[in-house]
Amino acid sequence: MGFLIAGGIGFIGSHTYISLRKRFPNARLVIVDNLTNSTIQTLNSLMEVTGDSILFHQLDLCDEQAVEHLFNRYHFHGILHFAGYKAVEESVVNPLKYYINNIQGTLNLVKQCLHYKIERFIFSSSATVYGNGKSPFKESDSLLPASSPYGQTKAICERILQDVAYANPWLRVSLLRYFNPIGAHESGLIGESPTSLPSNLMPYITKVAKGELPILKIFGGDYPTLDGTAVRDYIHVMDVAEGHVAALEHVRRGAHVYNLGTGRGTSVLQLVRAFEQVNGIKVPYQIVERRPGDLASVYANVHKAESGLQWKASRTIENMCRDAWNFEKRNILI
Ligand code: UD1
Repeated sequence: MGFLIAGGIGFIGSHTYISLRKRFPNARLVIVDNLTNSTIQTLNSLMEVTGDSILFHQLDLCDEQAVEHLFNRYHFHGILHFAGYKAVEESVVNPLKYYINNIQGTLNLVKQCLHYKIERFIFSSSATVYGNGKSPFKESDSLLPASSPYGQTKAICERILQDVAYANPWLRVSLLRYFNPIGAHESGLIGESPTSLPSNLMPYITKVAKGELPILKIFGGDYPTLDGTAVRDYIHVMDVAEGHVAALEHVRRGAHVYNLGTGRGTSVLQLVRAFEQVNGIKVPYQIVERRPGDLASVYANVHKAESGLQWKASRTIENMCRDAWNFEKRNILI
């Protein structure tokens, strides 16, 4: 059994590697990554956590020849595709960078998947494809135009994979729409290590807690929510990782979409308070203007994933806060 993990050094890919190894102790797992938003240190940590000597190739999926070469060399039974740019604001400023990278990389992988008749393909999508619809989001909801080029690339790649699966009925595709993955592996060795200033909430909180950033700016205190701050469906990254293993095991013919969330909403202030309480550390914050493009409330309907994948997110907000901080603290020592 052999699986390709494209973008396997990134946040979700690296955690999924751990879950895959646990589920398939004898499988050949090959990671490719171009290291644009990940660090090679994660590879060492992955080896420490799993005891593997990891098969890794630094490779850009947009380099078609390199991708061909990779598929020549290994025989895969499934592809897990995590590789892509994901900074929303950057995608607004530099849309072509996103359209070229995220779509070309996916096309190159799909071409090889068809060429070698690799049956299983798992794609990292995002709740952002629901656009400014209404929570709880269901897989059958119609997709509204995403508010950013990043979101558009996810919707386009989903569509490409749906069309390709329709034309090739042997293909089994899972399109996994992540809500807000946060937290870190329980060991504290693997976590979210953005290579630039974080724009997502949890990495920002941990940097403020660590004293690397002075204050957390909470974007908007006047949303129609329980405390005025925006609500999201935060999910532990290890639950997301296990969702991929479930998707690989239950992948059916055709292209099937699943929400990976908890189905529960948590406000920014609730998350900050939980973080402070669990870790016994203060996170100074200030409520500022809303961030353009943000929605008041985004959370998932998770019934389809629970029944179709026989998977359910089990970790709590407290687990997410503890593990995120545990990882960040260990990084102080490095
Ligand atoms: C963002 C992206 C989404 C992407 C997801 C995961 C937007 C509009 N959406 O989702 O497409 O799939 O990240 O990468 O950017 N917040 C603060 N202060 C901060 C940072 C965030 O108050 O310094 C708030 C935000 O306003 C939001 C919540 O925290 O209400 C979560 O923000 P974030 O972690 O950036 O995720 P999303 O905006 O939900």
